[in-house]
Amino acid sequence: MNTILEVLSEKREAARLGGGQHRIDAQHKKGKLTARERLELLFDEGSFEEYDMFVTHRCQDFGLDEQSYMGDGVVTGHGTVNGRLVYAFSQDFTVFGGSLSETHAQKICKVMDAAVQNGAPIIGLNDSGGARIQEGVAALGGYADIFLKNTLASGSVPQISLIMGPCAGGAVYSPAITDFTFMVRDSSYMFVTGPDVVKTVTNETVTQEELGGASAHTKKSSVADGAFENDVEAISEIRRLIDFLPLSALEKAPKRPTFDQSDRIEMSLDTLIPANPNAPYDMKELVEKIADEGDVFEIKPDYAQNIITAFIRIGGETVGVVANQPMALAGCLDINSARKAARFVRFCDAFNIPIVTLVDVPGFLPGTAQEHGGIIVHGAKLLFAYAEATVPKVTVITRKAYGGAYDVMSSKHLRGDVNYAWPTAEIAVMGAKGAVEILYRSELGDPEKIQKRISDYEDRFANPFVAASRGYVDEVIMPHSTRRRIAHSLQVLKKKKQQNPPKKHDNIPL
Ligand code: COA
Repeated sequence: MNTILEVLSEKREAARLGGGQHRIDAQHKKGKLTARERLELLFDEGSFEEYDMFVTHRCQDFGLDEQSYMGDGVVTGHGTVNGRLVYAFSQDFTVFGGSLSETHAQKICKVMDAAVQNGAPIIGLNDSGGARIQEGVAALGGYADIFLKNTLASGSVPQISLIMGPCAGGAVYSPAITDFTFMVRDSSYMFVTGPDVVKTVTNETVTQEELGGASAHTKKSSVADGAFENDVEAISEIRRLIDFLPLSALEKAPKRPTFDQSDRIEMSLDTLIPANPNAPYDMKELVEKIADEGDVFEIKPDYAQNIITAFIRIGGETVGVVANQPMALAGCLDINSARKAARFVRFCDAFNIPIVTLVDVPGFLPGTAQEHGGIIVHGAKLLFAYAEATVPKVTVITRKAYGGAYDVMSSKHLRGDVNYAWPTAEIAVMGAKGAVEILYRSELGDPEKIQKRISDYEDRFANPFVAASRGYVDEVIMPHSTRRRIAHSLQVLKKKKQQNPPKKHDNIPL
């Protein structure tokens, strides 16, 4: 009996070594942790249970029949993150460079199926040289199997990808389908075709980092939702994100105990809006001041900074915040910000997370770049996302809500449940100067007359009361009571039930 137990122990020991000590050392030398070390950090101590530790590949070609490693380059299983069930796979770069074989893919598919069936998030820690070259189409089929599972799991359980090494070719499309993708700075990259192919086809000279490093994907392409300094920071931030999310679409996000009173008053907010209506202020200050303990998890902080998307908690419960940021592009909506916010709103709606929208928007960004880039369709994404969302929606207009952008930003007309405005709100078709220049073109030669017209227009429209008189704004509130008002509304809306007409699925303008 003892010998049988010893055999198991020895087999486990061998499997844990992956591609061998020298390759583990090489991984560490690059500043990277191994697949198992990463899972140890991800899960609560001692909670990880591994599946398929003894799976090996079935390839007989190119000498692989004589070379195989238990686990086949990916560690899979489940564990808990702060006590809640989570599934994960972690690619092991020490085994064939973490490349994806048919069996490697089957292991990933198995945990994805289990995650969906048992209603728990799935986290992929990606570190892979792509399709196992020796296997050819069997490996490619494996990718497609994963893409299909990703697609079917979308909106059912949260899916998170963390890129911790290479991720190239077909491998990129699994992270692209997941809800959130994060990268580790300097040690990870993602691209469809690498620098050599780029040079051959387009004659561009570009480094791996420039083409698909964390900076490129968090600032330019928006493929990644955030980047972290190293493996340890990245994994601890993923744990923090998981704490904000429900386990599945059938559940609510967890409630966290907090000492921060929901009716906390913030007198400093009464002076947040500058006297000059064109002067910027930092909307992040408002986000932090309404959040429990100022705790904010921002999504895509380095991309389209004219809109903020973030998770916070109010009264211990998760809220998705979408906020125009006057510090960037005066808070205008443009293609990038509309796409960023639309995806975030849809995530919140899919996973029962109430949405708080903070509005200070002077309109859509003008210009040929925007029009020819399709701002009409991209702007419509955000409008569509808000309109279809059935989760509780609370809106606060702090200053400008002009034109079509007023409609888009979770207005009453798009089924905003509770719409507040600060006394500083200006809800109008456009700014007073622009409006007067159109309405009184013939008087433009007379500055005194025009100034009088502008003042009249401001008196009439640069306030929240016209909208309030029509019921488009439910209540004009004191800025200092914003957190208390939102918290109360969310409490009232807790049992909100709203359904869209039956359909196969909608057809959001893509
Ligand atoms: N299939 C099979 N084995 C692979 C592999 C793949 N796709 N990618 C890497 N490996 C193996 C290497 O042969 C090497 O094996 P060894 O330890 O026995 O020598 C090991 O993984 C590590 O790779 P190495 O090239 O030494 O690591 P690196 O850090 O210098 O480079 C890559 C990493 C990913 C840039 C490089 O391995 C690479 O270009 N791989 C191929 C990428 C590709 O074209 N994939 C197919 C298209 S999806």
